[in-house]
Amino acid sequence: MRISSNTFRRDFIKLCGLSALPFFMPENVFAIQKQETKEEIKNKKPLLNFISDGLLLSPAEYLQKLDEINKKSEIEPDFYGNGGATKRLEDAFVKITGKEKAIFLPTGTMANQLAIKLLNKDNTKALVPENSHIYRDEADAAQSVHNKRLIGLGKGKPFFTLKDLQETLAYYDNEEVFKSGLGVVAIENPIRRADASTIPIENIKEISKFCKEKGYQLHLDGARLHIAAAYTGVSIAEYATNFDTVYISLYKHLNATNGAILCGKADIIDKVAHQIKIYGGTSFQNWSATAVALHSLNDVEEKWKNIIKVADYLVVELNKIPEIKISKIENGTNIYNLVLDKNISLKKLADFLRIDDNILVGRANAEKVIKLMVNESLLSRKPSEIVDAWKKAIINVKK
Ligand SMILES: Cc1ncc(COP(=O)(O)O)c(C=O)c1O
Repeated sequence: MRISSNTFRRDFIKLCGLSALPFFMPENVFAIQKQETKEEIKNKKPLLNFISDGLLLSPAEYLQKLDEINKKSEIEPDFYGNGGATKRLEDAFVKITGKEKAIFLPTGTMANQLAIKLLNKDNTKALVPENSHIYRDEADAAQSVHNKRLIGLGKGKPFFTLKDLQETLAYYDNEEVFKSGLGVVAIENPIRRADASTIPIENIKEISKFCKEKGYQLHLDGARLHIAAAYTGVSIAEYATNFDTVYISLYKHLNATNGAILCGKADIIDKVAHQIKIYGGTSFQNWSATAVALHSLNDVEEKWKNIIKVADYLVVELNKIPEIKISKIENGTNIYNLVLDKNISLKKLADFLRIDDNILVGRANAEKVIKLMVNESLLSRKPSEIVDAWKKAIINVKK
């Protein structure tokens, strides 16, 4: 059976269940409620989505992408993660991060958890951001599987500071009688729960210096680290030099179906393959994900420079439409706040954009702010065409 892009997206929308979206889904996923029919999709333009970090490829498009990659240079399979496209991807990440070694894992959750487990050695406490994926979205794996006690830092703030870390350490030192060790601290950057904003590099450097002095290991959940690097101008290698291990996702801005890379010193990374196996994560072949991520890596920096240029242009041009107000987020990356004039129905606007121009917009939060996410799908059209599509949609929904 052939799965068309539109069927895929329609089913994806249904599966997401608008009212019950788990957090790890692009936050405000779908504003459109109406399920378009084939006839209604007049427009065969490539999808421009404002709801994710990547292209949101349908299975058909993904197969096409693999075919293109394979035609350029035959994809070599890996065998239980060894060799082929997977090894090439790991080598590429060693170069990018400047770390000694890199290893593919099936998920970022596993990368975070194994990094914490291995870096922490026999210590039980791990200090992690309270708003992080590690703390809130990994189903208490640290506690229930790895015998590590996660302690949340910086509650209510986008990121914790060195002072927060020191105060928390002092608190546990003073208030607990039977001491147990702390071996690892983690940081997430960009911060998903703070609208993908970044932590200033000075802040990271301070924490890193302190951790080194005290002998604590430092892990980075950099699921979207390329996006942070593109917006801040701090290179991935510069970020990475502050950490003992760094995880980067393969399926967000790198468009693979799944997967993660964990980079670090050889003494840690060499232990990871065995850990993946004992937790049941060693899959026979992974090339279908790693070949696509490797392909995306080729021009990821160039692409994000262009995405930012187009996004800056859109902020200026769309703000000239009286019914639209787009603002940037402090320390922000690829998420922008969009507020519509109260007379504009988001549902109508989203339906119009989707059906007429194949543009996908997210839903609004309780404060009526729509989180506009940009990604490489922006590069599929002329920037002026994107502005025209919004102008046309606003005129039509005002009628
Ligand atoms: C910041 C962050 N870390 C880790 C993960 C986990 O990745 P995975 O879905 O591969 O387990 C996610 C996924 O959404 C994430 O946003």
